[in-house]
Amino acid sequence: MLPSSSAGEPAQGQYGRAATIGMIGIFDSGLGGLTVLRALMARFPKQSFIYLGDHAHVPYGDRPSEHIVQLTRACSEHLFERDCRLVLLGCNTATAVAARTLQRNWLPQTIWKTRGHNILGIVAPTVEAATQTPWAVTTPKYPQSYISDRIAVFGTTRTIASNVYADEIKKRCPKVRVFQQACSKLAGAIEQQAPRAELEALVVEGINGVLEQTGGAPPHRAILGCTHFPLVEELFRQHLPPTTVILSQPEVVADSLEDYLSRRPHFTFPSETPELLLLTTGEPQEISVRARVFWPDCPSFAQA
Ligand code: DGL
Repeated sequence: MLPSSSAGEPAQGQYGRAATIGMIGIFDSGLGGLTVLRALMARFPKQSFIYLGDHAHVPYGDRPSEHIVQLTRACSEHLFERDCRLVLLGCNTATAVAARTLQRNWLPQTIWKTRGHNILGIVAPTVEAATQTPWAVTTPKYPQSYISDRIAVFGTTRTIASNVYADEIKKRCPKVRVFQQACSKLAGAIEQQAPRAELEALVVEGINGVLEQTGGAPPHRAILGCTHFPLVEELFRQHLPPTTVILSQPEVVADSLEDYLSRRPHFTFPSETPELLLLTTGEPQEISVRARVFWPDCPSFAQA
């Protein structure tokens, strides 16, 4: 189980500090974040990573917000204790519900902040890519204010209920029309390896929900705002109107992290022998087997 210490002195990670300093932590509620991890490993082949999947509590999508904040805080702290100075919440639900609270209210009061640790999420880069507007721009500016595209957002119940995508897009591009659709069962069905026909029916249901809102007009862009959904991107591609561009969130996140690290190189320690540690709060053997569906050569998970 994860330790529950808060602002106290961090415990020494189980690996030697010298061997692990500079690891980047990637957190997800389950296995979907492997889509983000793999894009980052491809983009930063010399960087070491620790991935933590909270399988003891997946899915997050239907949990109360306070519980998501609490779980995300515990997992972020666990990654800090494992010598990750930078934690990326590679989970839309955790980012949508907890990122801001942890960044503004929790982290500044901890020993981790004084040590220069930080937490990032994956909503900001996705909004930047969808609006072609830097995150730092929080009021509409020409030409963004004139963009009047339709953007579809698919996510878990909690991500959609948070309204974070619609709010952040409209802050930058008020004329953009955002059509949000909760696909409440899809992440769980992917995680449980449901049959293709079942996944396809859930994808079609989500797309129909958006098309009903648009009156049948095709969205210009679609955000698959859940880490699990890239695994069924092909089904979204098949059933979305052909003109709709699907944003690839793992790639967008890799682009954004590359930019971030170029400005804050102290968070990255390239090595000729990079390490990868996969952790789970669930049962490692079972998770290692299930992970192969997401990543055929996936190394084994260890207990968090
Ligand atoms: N990883 C979550 C996300 O990106 C989906 C799975 C869950 O509901 O926990 O929203």
